[in-house]
Amino acid sequence: MKLEKPEVGIIGGTSGMGAWFADLLEHAGLKVFRVGRRTDITPAEMARQCGVTVISVPIADTMRVIQEIGPLVPENGLLMDLTSIKAEPIKAMLRYSSVEVVGMHPLFGPDSSARNLNLRVIVCPGRGKQGLGWLRKILRQAGLAVTTLSAEEHDRIMGLVQGVNHFTTLALALCVIRSRIGIEDLLKCSTQTFSQRLDRITSVLGQPSGLFGSLLMENPSAGAFIEQYLNAAEEVANVISGKDWEGFEKMFEALNRFFIQDTGNEKEIM
Ligand SMILES: NC(=O)c1ccc[n+]([C@@H]2O[C@H](COP(=O)([O-])OP(=O)(O)OC[C@H]3O[C@@H](n4cnc5c(N)ncnc54)[C@H](OP(=O)(O)O)[C@@H]3O)[C@@H](O)[C@H]2O)c1
Repeated sequence: MKLEKPEVGIIGGTSGMGAWFADLLEHAGLKVFRVGRRTDITPAEMARQCGVTVISVPIADTMRVIQEIGPLVPENGLLMDLTSIKAEPIKAMLRYSSVEVVGMHPLFGPDSSARNLNLRVIVCPGRGKQGLGWLRKILRQAGLAVTTLSAEEHDRIMGLVQGVNHFTTLALALCVIRSRIGIEDLLKCSTQTFSQRLDRITSVLGQPSGLFGSLLMENPSAGAFIEQYLNAAEEVANVISGKDWEGFEKMFEALNRFFIQDTGNEKEIM
C-alpha cells in the first residue's frame, strides 16, 4: 500500500465534518474530491478512482453507504469514516471491503478551526497499519491531538462524554421552559457558568436533531450511563430534600478527593 500523496474522495465532503476534513487535507497538499448527493461525480465513481475513501454522511445513512461503497475501494486503498459512533461502522467497513480500514472521530463540530491546537481526534484501528500511520501523521501535522482507541472502548467512553452530556443539556432545556422564567429575564440574571450552559443549549438545538438522536440512541453505552446519571441525580436530590447536611458534606468531600486532590477512590463515592 502506497499512501505518500493519495487522492482522497470524501462522501459527505460537500458540508459539515466532511468539508472540514477536506479543508485539512487540501491544506496538507492533497487532491480531494468532495462528493454529495448532487455532485457531478457519484460516490461510486469517486471510490473506484481514489486511493483513500472517507465516509462522512449522516449516521442513519452510514451503514448503507458503507455497504454500497466498501466493495468498490481499489486494492491497496484505504477506507475510513468520521462517524461519531465507531464499532458498527468499522465492523461494516471490514465486512464490505478487503482493504485497509481506519475509523476516526473528531471531538468537535465542523465550524472549529483545523489549526486550533486544542482540538482532539480519536482514531480507531480497523485493518492494516499503513493507513493508520498515514492518518495519524496528517492529523498531528495539522496540530490536532490524536488519541488511539479500540472502537468498542471509544463507544463506551462516548456513552458518557456525549450521551450523558447531551442528555443533561436537553433535560436542562426542558427544565428552563417549564420554569416559565422568560429567556430575557434569565439572561439578565445569568451567572457566567449558567450563560455558558444556555449557549450550549442553543448550540445543540442549532444542529440537526438526527445527529444528537443517533449519539443518544445508537451508541449502545449511552443508555446505561444515562441510567447511572439518573440514579446519581436521585441520590443527590434525596440528600438535598432530606436536608441531610452530614450526607452532603460526606459526598462533597469524596467528590473533592476524586476530582481535586486526585487521591480519590471511586468505591468510596459509589
Ligand atoms: N457535526 C458534528 O459535530 C460531528 C462531529 C464529529 C463527527 N461527526 C460525524 O460526521 C458525519 C457527518 O455529519 P455532519 O454533522 O458533518 O453532517 P451531516 O448532515 O450528517 O452530513 C452532511 C454531508 O453528508 C452528505 N450526505 C447526506 N446524505 C448522503 C447520502 N445518502 N449519500 C452521500 N452523501 C450524503 C451531504 O451531502 P449533500 O447534502 O451535498 O448531498 C453532506 O455533504 C457523521 O457521521 C457524524 O457522526 C459530526
